[in-house]
Amino acid sequence: MDTYKIITSKGLKTQDLVDGDRVISSVEGPVSSFEPGLADQLRKQTTRKPVVVGYDNTISFLPGQHDRFPTVSMAHFFLADTLSNNDNIRKAKSLVDLGCGSGFSGNYAAKNFERLQDGRIVFGDLFPESINATLNSYLANNGLSPEEIQITQNGNTFSVRGRGNQKMEFRVGDVNRTMYGDNVDVAIASPIYIYSRDL
Ligand SMILES: C[S@@+](CC[C@H](N)C(=O)[O-])C[C@H]1O[C@@H](n2cnc3c(N)ncnc32)[C@H](O)[C@@H]1O
Repeated sequence: MDTYKIITSKGLKTQDLVDGDRVISSVEGPVSSFEPGLADQLRKQTTRKPVVVGYDNTISFLPGQHDRFPTVSMAHFFLADTLSNNDNIRKAKSLVDLGCGSGFSGNYAAKNFERLQDGRIVFGDLFPESINATLNSYLANNGLSPEEIQITQNGNTFSVRGRGNQKMEFRVGDVNRTMYGDNVDVAIASPIYIYSRDL
């Protein structure tokens, strides 16, 4: 999908407004995930396109008017760094993102954690629009189009054979019910709770 991207660099030093491969504008030392200077610059662009916001190599779609997931924030970027810097979490072969919203955290892990490249990532949220945004973010982050993936549905769970051997699951509903009894290495429930067993 053709989009503008607002990308904060790893280490939070710069934030760029990007069109395709071209950096249109950049700010130093960003303090929010979508700096006002870049928003002003975006308003001056003559071409209208969707905007995605991201950190390092992972993007998330901005919520639409009726979507119930929050905009990805600096807190998400700190969390991504915290997860990346934890050796135990990086060893996970399976991970759940509970109440995933637009799925930034799980998508960041899916993209960057070595053992998840052929592991299992499960996203759960009460709302179909969150799950939809999470799946679209997964496809965009991995250069996949909806036509080239196989989705199988079992009740409220959608399973996707993802990039390489990644096994992706997307579950709509209350995680107390949809995730009950799951056995995984890491569970993230951003912004409040991260659980990891010893690996
Ligand atoms: C504050 S948002 C955080 C979203 C995401 N984790 C993030 O970091 O951007 C909370 C999310 O949890 C979802 N949620 C709340 N209670 C839930 C439940 N019992 N089961 C599944 N999802 C739930 C909401 O729909 C919402 O998308």
